[in-house]
Amino acid sequence: MNKNRYRIGVLTSGMSRGSNLLAIRNWFNENQLPVDISFVVVTHRRAPVIERCQYFGLEHIFVSTKDMAEFEERVLTLISEREIDLIVLAGFLKKLSAEFLEKAAIPTLNIHPALLPKYGGEGMYGSNVHKEVFRNQESESGATVHYVNKCYDEGEIILQRKVGLEGCESPEQVAERVLKIEHETYAPAIWEALQRHRKL
Ligand code: GAR
Repeated sequence: MNKNRYRIGVLTSGMSRGSNLLAIRNWFNENQLPVDISFVVVTHRRAPVIERCQYFGLEHIFVSTKDMAEFEERVLTLISEREIDLIVLAGFLKKLSAEFLEKAAIPTLNIHPALLPKYGGEGMYGSNVHKEVFRNQESESGATVHYVNKCYDEGEIILQRKVGLEGCESPEQVAERVLKIEHETYAPAIWEALQRHRKL
């Protein structure tokens, strides 16, 4: 394996469309940085992200989350076999255990579609977040990339970017604005974390 490059593994879910995955891939390519997406774990046979993986030649591996202990065991094996430097959650919604995070011994990052610590926690994901933000008539929202710890959305923040919500007339419009910011935020945050934990 090429030791001069970083390797990341991506975990997704049935709701993942793969838009962040693609933005990450494109940003590292465009900036000619030594980062490869080694694998994309998919947890649903019909997840929209699969089509994107196929189209862009990214290896996807199906791992069921029905039994989370088995899921974590399988991902730990992948981390070790592929010599992964960092795990990226892209729409992955299950809680990872403290034991998994400790055994993995590499940073695990998540992107959340709001300005944490607001609008975080169990059940706050995807459209649920944007509905709440819209209901509360917030003037801004944004994207937060943070380390994953054993509590939902509570790990240390690496990068947060805001977006104004003037003129947004629905939660869907909020989601659209936030997603654009997510795409600009995730890859630079991953790069920052790789530098902090530098092994090359
Ligand atoms: C993203 O909007 C991400 O912020 C959200 O899932 C979506 C995945 O979309 N994650 C969470 O809400 C986690 N709490 P994508 O597959 O198009 O990147």
